[in-house]
Amino acid sequence: MTDVKDKSVSGFNRRAFIGGAAGVATLPLVARAAGTGESPATAQDPTLPVNVTLQVNDTAKSLNIDARTTLLDALREHIGLTGSKKGCDHGQCGACTVLVEGRRVLSCLMLALTAQDQPIVTIEGLSQGDKLQPMQQAFIDQDAFQCGYCTPGQIVSAVACVKEGHATNDDDVREYMSGNICRCAAYPNIVAAVRQAAPAMSDEQKG
Ligand code: FES
Ligand code: FES
Repeated sequence: MTDVKDKSVSGFNRRAFIGGAAGVATLPLVARAAGTGESPATAQDPTLPVNVTLQVNDTAKSLNIDARTTLLDALREHIGLTGSKKGCDHGQCGACTVLVEGRRVLSCLMLALTAQDQPIVTIEGLSQGDKLQPMQQAFIDQDAFQCGYCTPGQIVSAVACVKEGHATNDDDVREYMSGNICRCAAYPNIVAAVRQAAPAMSDEQKG
């Protein structure tokens, strides 16, 4: 017996209509893929590796990675720059801070793909050979760490804090460094280090 619920008066049933509509909807994707020489499966599979070029510490790094790779994982696992640390992997601790186009970024929250062709600076890129960047030297002078796990993120963030003009008093430093957590609570020494490095950094910029 015919299923009257699934049949219209014209004799065109709903299943046939939906099947046809789905086919029409995928046509542009298929046509686009055909135009680029890619198979439909290639064009639509987000798990296939993609080519990415990152400009890290003035060096171009070409990678073939999963499109979902974070900038932090790209730096640590694929490029081998392990200075940036994975503390929480949720944007809450600041241990993964790097500079992208001069701005501090939580690299655990950024896809490597979106950082393409933008200058990236990690803790490894701050010194010039054996010459430490003034903020690195200030952290040593002020004993601004204990275990050191948060320190790369603290230093990179502190460099940006000074460049943003937020290091002219202790309250500002505390406020603008508040995204960087230190489990060892070296906060007073970190503030002292930022205040020490600020004039040295501006002298360096002038010179
Ligand atoms: Fe990125 Fe904690 S690891 S904010
Ligand atoms: Fe240990 Fe900051 S020095 S977490």
